[in-house]
Amino acid sequence: MNEPLRIGVAGLGTVGAGVVRLLQQNADMITKRAGRPIHVVAVNARDKEKARGFSFEDIEWNDDAASLASHRDIEVFVELIGGDEGVAKVAVEKAIQSGKHVVTANKALLAIHGHAMAEAAETAAVTLRFEAAVAGGIPVVKALTESLAGDRIKQVYGVMNGTCNYILTKMESTGKDYQDIFDEARDLGYLEADPKLDVGGIDAGHKLALLASIAFGNRVDFRGMDIEGIEQITFEDIQLAGDMGYRIKLLGIARMSERGLEQRTQPCLVPKDSPPGWIENATNIVVLEGEETGQVFLQGAGAGQGPTSTAVLGDLIDIARGRRISTFGQAASSLTKATPVQDGRDVAYYVRLRILDEPGALAKIAAAFGDAGVSIHRLRQYGRRIDDVSATVLIVTYQTSRQKIKHSLTAVRQSGMTIKPIVSIRIEDV
Ligand code: HSE
Repeated sequence: MNEPLRIGVAGLGTVGAGVVRLLQQNADMITKRAGRPIHVVAVNARDKEKARGFSFEDIEWNDDAASLASHRDIEVFVELIGGDEGVAKVAVEKAIQSGKHVVTANKALLAIHGHAMAEAAETAAVTLRFEAAVAGGIPVVKALTESLAGDRIKQVYGVMNGTCNYILTKMESTGKDYQDIFDEARDLGYLEADPKLDVGGIDAGHKLALLASIAFGNRVDFRGMDIEGIEQITFEDIQLAGDMGYRIKLLGIARMSERGLEQRTQPCLVPKDSPPGWIENATNIVVLEGEETGQVFLQGAGAGQGPTSTAVLGDLIDIARGRRISTFGQAASSLTKATPVQDGRDVAYYVRLRILDEPGALAKIAAAFGDAGVSIHRLRQYGRRIDDVSATVLIVTYQTSRQKIKHSLTAVRQSGMTIKPIVSIRIEDV
């Protein structure tokens, strides 16, 4: 029997407990596949007494994550604590300095400090892997880093926050408001401890920034990303978008052009029959588009114990097999500092207005778009509403720049023909 791979696991929440449980439950299979046993030497968590669904026999308890990170008997430190600062950061840095390989599911940590950590790992000649950080059980990091390493990636996009997708699809199917479904999602335990990470688009943004780095060879740049959450999305917009053949999704999309790196995570309209458009509930989808490969769709569970723990095991088995892959698929020193592109490529826009229902109103609205150089593709007026003086008008523009749409909406406001705030949402033709 080959020498076991000795690991320490910090953080025994859903994922950490799942990793230890699966290592025990599937020990024979994992040993055969890894070529050696994977042995949990020590664990660390906040609460020692909690039942976690695995046996503590032969496992040492360690009260301090940073001291576990440099434990003399481990080769791999598994960080499942979470958070971009504090204990997780200190412990991962300590592990790398101590010459331990690191496996983590911590997207926030790597989205902010990933480049520095990848450099440190290379200097220390250790491996830092993070399959579980992006889209749970979907093997997208491996797909990009390994299988598609020979292709030039044109764009990466997808629905990478299950909670947001659950909220949006439930609003659509029940007709309930955002707050009602948000409360349901919280009761189901879907939301992160800080819900803003989910509904504010931050969690999905962290994941996209990590994928963009592998896809385009840039230093991970979460701060250069355009991020907007789903808090402002109403059932009315979901319904009206549906009428026009679209669904509203929290879409992450990253593209590299000569101008630089465009990264955005925001609510978008996507065609109902597109891959992001068909995703229901808490499922995730990631689409990788390569010059030679074309589109590759990866769809599955983006969270949960089984899927996310399995992703951690995949990284551990790679290390046990002796595979050493750079954190972002190439040497950290060869990753470039990309210029963030805010405006990005032209897209069509969905614009919802409440206009005064009186002679000439539509003409003035149309003129405001025309004067700003924005061409209207489709326009639909819905019947008068309760107040009897205003009507909802929905406009889908042709592709245009963010600047022009901004100018046209300013002109619409100045026309004096609208009441209530104007809603405008990008349409991504994916
Ligand atoms: N909170 C995330 C989601 C899972 O809802 O997809 C962990 O990243």
